[in-house]
Amino acid sequence: MRFDIVTLFPAIFDGYLTQGLLDKAIKRDLVQIHRHDLRNWAPDTPHRPVDDKPFGGGPGMLIQVQPTVNCVRAVEQMADAPSRRILLTPQGKRFDQRMAEDLAHNDRVLMLCGRYEGFDQRVIDILEPEEVSIGDFVLNGGEVAAMVIVDAVVRLLPGVLGDENSSLEDSFSRGNRLLEFPQYTRPREFEGHTVPDVLLGGDHGAIARWREDQIQQRTKQRRSDLL
Ligand code: 6GU
Repeated sequence: MRFDIVTLFPAIFDGYLTQGLLDKAIKRDLVQIHRHDLRNWAPDTPHRPVDDKPFGGGPGMLIQVQPTVNCVRAVEQMADAPSRRILLTPQGKRFDQRMAEDLAHNDRVLMLCGRYEGFDQRVIDILEPEEVSIGDFVLNGGEVAAMVIVDAVVRLLPGVLGDENSSLEDSFSRGNRLLEFPQYTRPREFEGHTVPDVLLGGDHGAIARWREDQIQQRTKQRRSDLL
């Protein structure tokens, strides 16, 4: 799978892409992540401007249509596979595990990260990206949201997790749309806090029933909207 990320701040991704699971997946060529600096498609003048004031007035600056459309078209020419286009914005459809599972089936995903007050509307009218938000709050730009999406999608790709089934058991995943049960490891007692007896008894039926009960209880208490 290939991600193309269009951003004014490609360096934001440096640390994140070189650690842990992501680093391993990239080194094993299970995923390719290409970052593209939007400023490279700005007019060739000393400041390479990519933003301007909104017509009609208002605070902040908008990313302009011309460098953005030129950049996306050039980036899409860099490989044969057609890309699914995503534009990150708090105005978008809410990202969730279902969307992550759906994206993981694509060969190529291009993500446009906004900054400032967002993009000129004609970016959306011309490129027709899917507009995606990661939640009801405002970030300074789409980069952190793009990392969230890469993170959630890459761990679903075949071969990325050690155990092929381990993402299936996750909260919200295909096999389980509820919260997870609590887990314990050694020691059996710490500062008076003990492990529930049922987990130490070796009765696998009883353990399965206890875990199912915990899933239901937790979900009801914390996220009754999921039931
Ligand atoms: Cl995708 N972008 C920005 N700037 N803020 C957000 C967001 C995206 N999702 C939630 N807040």
